[in-house]
Amino acid sequence: MGEGENPSYLSDPWLGLHGWYLGTSTCNEWQRIQSFQARPDDLLICTYPKAGTTWIQEIVDMIQQDGDLEKCKRAPVHHRHPFIEWARPPQPSGVEQAEAMPSPRTLKTHLPVKLLPPSFWEQKCKFLYVARNAKDCMVSYYHFQRMSKVVPDPGPWHEYFEMFMAGKVGWGPWHDHVKGWWKVKDMHCVLFLFYEDMKKDPKCEIQKVAQFLGKNLDQELLEKIVYHTSFDVMKDNPMANRSGIPVSIMDQSISPFMRKGTVGDWKNHFTVAQNERFEDDYEKKMAGTNLTFCMEL
Ligand code: A3P
Repeated sequence: MGEGENPSYLSDPWLGLHGWYLGTSTCNEWQRIQSFQARPDDLLICTYPKAGTTWIQEIVDMIQQDGDLEKCKRAPVHHRHPFIEWARPPQPSGVEQAEAMPSPRTLKTHLPVKLLPPSFWEQKCKFLYVARNAKDCMVSYYHFQRMSKVVPDPGPWHEYFEMFMAGKVGWGPWHDHVKGWWKVKDMHCVLFLFYEDMKKDPKCEIQKVAQFLGKNLDQELLEKIVYHTSFDVMKDNPMANRSGIPVSIMDQSISPFMRKGTVGDWKNHFTVAQNERFEDDYEKKMAGTNLTFCMEL
């Protein structure tokens, strides 16, 4: 997510829009976002929030810059790739930032398939989707909402758990998000990746990304990218860890942006009863899809 300086959009409430929830400031700019003009050589990084957006952004950038660390440090990662639905006036919006960017552009979105500006499909762009299991997304999102002041306060965990299950969080519901992107993956140029696979075998997943981008990585460059995009290195990288964002916007003493970066942290948060309720609900919502997730490594 982005950052801001104008206190008027602190705790920007989520608002319902066509069955989804988005920040009020994004809803206010909806017409401009919908009429966004994609270009045929755009690459769009798509994720549900907290699915590893920053991680894949850093990987993509390192591949595109042929592993040149200085070039990757040209700006904080959340400024390198315009976030198309980001709208927090008077800052330039994501649409404005993208419009000002020369081609070929790499852009970012959390939008579900149904809300994506139609020109992305018309222009036959490349989409790189990263999915993360719902339980870890929920936990990560909860901590993010605790520390970020531009999104609503999550309240206590047990209330947040219910809100997430009901899909009443920004860019929610998670289930429809992942199912929507999974469904279109074979109809469009979509590389669909899983956070859990990236943790298990980063080399293999980074190679897939490189191939998708039409780049050849030799062994040395591949290992360099694996190292520099590992959790521990990114956590210490000021261009990735959001340390430049003022504490009034993101209070990392509450929870760091680069928090744990693991698979299965949900086990430290879900009660047994919550897990049963979640599994029951999950089975119903995910019925009829062959999309499966790894919940622990
Ligand atoms: P946790 O809160 O579980 O630690 P996003 O960028 O979509 O907001 O996602 C943030 C989540 O991705 C956080 O998860 C963060 O720690 C994790 N993350 C970021 N970089 C990572 C990396 N290099 N390896 C593993 N996880 C990473």
